[in-house]
Amino acid sequence: MRLDEGTAGKSTSLVAGGAGFLGCHLIDYLLHEGRSVICVDSFLTGTFENVARFNGNENFTLVRQDVLDPLQIERPVDEVYNLACAASPPRYQADPHHTLMTSVVGTSNLLDFAMSQEARFLQASTSEVYGDPEVHPQTEDYTGSVNCTGPRACYDEGKRAAEAMCFDFLRLGKVDARVARIFNTYGPMMRADDGRIVSTFIIQALRGRDLTVFGDGSQTRSFCYVSDLIEGLVRLMRVEPNPQAPVNLGNPAEFTVSELAATVSKKIPSARSIRRLPLPQDDPRRRRPDISRAAMLLGWTPKIDLDEGLSRTIAWFREPEGATKITEAAE
Ligand SMILES: NC(=O)c1ccc[n+]([C@@H]2O[C@H](COP(=O)([O-])OP(=O)(O)OC[C@H]3O[C@@H](n4cnc5c(N)ncnc54)[C@H](O)[C@@H]3O)[C@@H](O)[C@H]2O)c1
Repeated sequence: MRLDEGTAGKSTSLVAGGAGFLGCHLIDYLLHEGRSVICVDSFLTGTFENVARFNGNENFTLVRQDVLDPLQIERPVDEVYNLACAASPPRYQADPHHTLMTSVVGTSNLLDFAMSQEARFLQASTSEVYGDPEVHPQTEDYTGSVNCTGPRACYDEGKRAAEAMCFDFLRLGKVDARVARIFNTYGPMMRADDGRIVSTFIIQALRGRDLTVFGDGSQTRSFCYVSDLIEGLVRLMRVEPNPQAPVNLGNPAEFTVSELAATVSKKIPSARSIRRLPLPQDDPRRRRPDISRAAMLLGWTPKIDLDEGLSRTIAWFREPEGATKITEAAE
């Protein structure tokens, strides 16, 4: 592995979707490296609170725009991270056409921008490209089992199309594009109200409510703590040579949803019991990344286990900043 030291500590990264959960952690990381950062975000699911701490930093610029519109940024940029896309099912299903267009037209606009700047490009793809997988754990060679007509298709198929576009730009020598397939990631700065499983359980437990489990709770997920994920994204952006293939980034420790609920309940004794709800359509039964490629190419493996990551996340939700979110969160 060789990380490109030539780009670290200098120059400008553009982070599309930088006001979202992962984006604001990535910006924090890049600013700490000494880079300048341009955050492009429409604030569809991102918040001003997420980027408020960067205000006043001369290396930080905020551009409010939808990536469906071509970028008009004149400053030189040498890294483009495309994280723009609502990530939680209730949010991306609220306007499915916009979600699909964000991945297709938005990624096209950002690739064109990267090409005009001769910048590297990293696409935040997702484990959802594997759909409800028949192969376990999921290796990058598995081509997936996605229902292209279901309610999750606007997200899953949009991300698959975006991957196809990245690899076309790469093959044609237009952009040095890289693709990260991100598995469930959690941590501080998650929205309390967007229906992601970890934040939902934490909020329900802190409010003394039942934890809502879809189906019988035997479906599995693998949860990656946010600092580990960000480290993986930056390594993938900088690694030489270009991997020329997607790279899974996630924590391979696999838990059932019932196990996650039990762990949260143990850490937050005010939690009541479990309330079961019907399983949503096309909900994946099993999820676990095979991360051998990331380990080999990037020298990357996650460091924070679920116990530690949950403790840190719960501590953040208990802080005044997080507590406001609990009050604001929908039931
Ligand atoms: N968090 C995870 O577990 C996870 C897992 C797999 C993939 N991802 C991917 O990582 C990226 C970031 O995820 P996140 O968890 O931070 O989600 P998020 O919803 O918190 O952040 C997405 C950001 O993109 C912005 N955005 C959405 N559509 C836009 C548009 N058309 N134009 C401009 N900005 C737009 C939102 O306002 C928000 O700030 C997403 O692309 C998501 O698909 C995340």
